[in-house]
Formats: sequence, structure tokens, C-alpha cells
Amino acid sequence: MTSTTSTARTATDAPLPIPGPATPYQRDIARYWDGEARPVNLRLGDVDGLYHHHYGIGEVDHAALGDPEDSESEKKLIAELHRLESAQAEYLLGHLGDIGREDMVVDAGCGRGGSMVMAHQRFGCHVEGVTLSARQAEFANRRARELGIQDHVRARVCNMLSTPFETGRAAASWNNESTMYVDLQDLFAEHSRILRVGGRYVTITGCWNPRYGQPSKWVSQINAHFECNIHSRREYLRAMADNRLVPQAVVDVTPATLPYWELRATSSLVTGIEDAFINSYKDGSFQYLLIAADRV
Ligand SMILES: C[S@@+](CC[C@H](N)C(=O)[O-])C[C@H]1O[C@@H](n2cnc3c(N)ncnc32)[C@H](O)[C@@H]1O
Repeated sequence: MTSTTSTARTATDAPLPIPGPATPYQRDIARYWDGEARPVNLRLGDVDGLYHHHYGIGEVDHAALGDPEDSESEKKLIAELHRLESAQAEYLLGHLGDIGREDMVVDAGCGRGGSMVMAHQRFGCHVEGVTLSARQAEFANRRARELGIQDHVRARVCNMLSTPFETGRAAASWNNESTMYVDLQDLFAEHSRILRVGGRYVTITGCWNPRYGQPSKWVSQINAHFECNIHSRREYLRAMADNRLVPQAVVDVTPATLPYWELRATSSLVTGIEDAFINSYKDGSFQYLLIAADRV
């Protein structure tokens, strides 16, 4: 287990500017993530030093949770939520295909870098992450230094719609719950540019279900809570098709994420948005999806 005591928190410091042009919305999002220090993210990351800003998948291990009256029960619940979040990242990485040690991969909207560290540990490859938040990039780079992998894992403050990466350089790229902040046509055009032909793009995201008709009240509530704009499943597939990204797998992981939300709703780390996720997943208006696509 990795000690994280030297990982200073800077989330409450003044926001840092985004280099280059940024829209007022992007500056708002940078401010949001610069200031984000919810216990549900930080206490889970403290478990083993992998800091995620995404949700979990998989069955809850009730044996690991133990007795609710136990004085350690809160700690066990946090460890279990974290295990499910890391399982989600492993699932995404498992769809990237064969990545070699010399390959470069891109984490678009990398947050505090948990998925980047896991990608390097799994493939030995170079990982470049971009985020709008300078605080997150600092945090991710500090963690990489603490782990001695700073030559392979690097986060920078940058708009994922306009990255500095060479055309056709990336073997794979992904968005882990970060597509709802951008226009999908612009996003997939940039992934398509940086990916080599035959490269793989993967996203895990919440999307509204066209079968429901329009975004439900729960989806609107989630948008307001996170200041984002959830897209429909149809928009993903259309924007990919328009940008030379051909889906190889589309997996509805909604049933796999519900146990995470139901567990989280019972914890002291609730943020108030849990019911909107649970209700919308159950009424079918919202889906948690993995899409893996080949760059052709
Ligand atoms: C919900 S967090 C996900 C973080 C990370 N992918 C994870 O799984 O832990 C959303 C992330 O998207 C980033 N983001 C949103 N819009 C962006 C943009 N236009 N360019 C770069 N990053 C962006 C935010 O800065 C934040 O890091």
C-alpha cells in the first residue's frame, strides 16, 4: 500500500489560469475542479494513492464490509467503494487493446490521475493526461513523482479539444467520465487526429437514453449538480461515425454500477446526487456505457 501523507492538498488555494484560449464555461469548469475536495474523492484515494473522480462497477463484497456495528465499518465501506472505482478503471483499460512499453496513450480529462497511474502500471507505457484544472494537474504530477514514474506519467493543463500531441502519435486514448463537458464532434475530431490508424479510443460515460425520449428530470438534476451537459447515446455513436471512430464494443454497464450507487447512498460520504443516479438508472432514462472504438 502506498503512503500518501506527503500529497499536500491545494484544492482550496486560488484558481490558476488555463494557458491559451478558454471559453468562460471552461474557466468555470477549471474553477469547479480546482476547488473540488469532496471527501468521497479524497478519502477513497487515500486508501492506496489512486485518486479517481469516477464511479464504480461490480458486485459489492459484503464479506469485506463486515458488521455495520463494527468501529471499522466506515473505513471498510470506503475501501470497498474505492475497490469498485478502480475496477471501473481496469475495465476501461482492458478495452485499450495491446499497448506496448514504447507506446504513448492519452487520458483526456485526467482528473487527479488515478487512471493514468493504473495505465502505466498495466502496460509500462507513456501516459499523457490533460485537464482544465491546474490543481488537478499539480496533484497528478506530484503523485507520479512520489511513485517515481514521472518520466512516464505526466499531466498538463490543456483543453482536450485542442491538444499539443502530434497527429497520429497515440496508440490509444480515452475519456473516463469527462465527455459531458464538451461538444462531441469537436472531441472526437481531436481524438481522431491524435490516434494512429488502428488505434483504440475508449470512453466510459453516463448518457441519456434516446428510448426515454428526452433528458429526464434526474438527468437535468445531474447536469445542474456537476455543471455539465450529458449527451445521448445516439449523439455518441453519430459523432464517432463522423470522425472515423468505429465502435468495436458498446457495453451497457448500468446494472454493474447500480450496486456502487446503492452502497454509496448508505455511507456518510453522500453528496446528495445519489438518488438522481439511482432513479434514472432504474427508470431507464440514463445509462452508464462503455464504448470502445477503432480509429480507421
Ligand atoms: C469527472 S472528472 C473525471 C476525471 C478522471 N477522468 C477520472 O476518471 O478520475 C472530469 C475531468 O474532465 C476534465 N475536463 C472537463 N472539460 C475539459 C476540457 N475541455 N479539457 C480538458 N479537461 C477537461 C476536468 O478538468 C476533470 O478533470
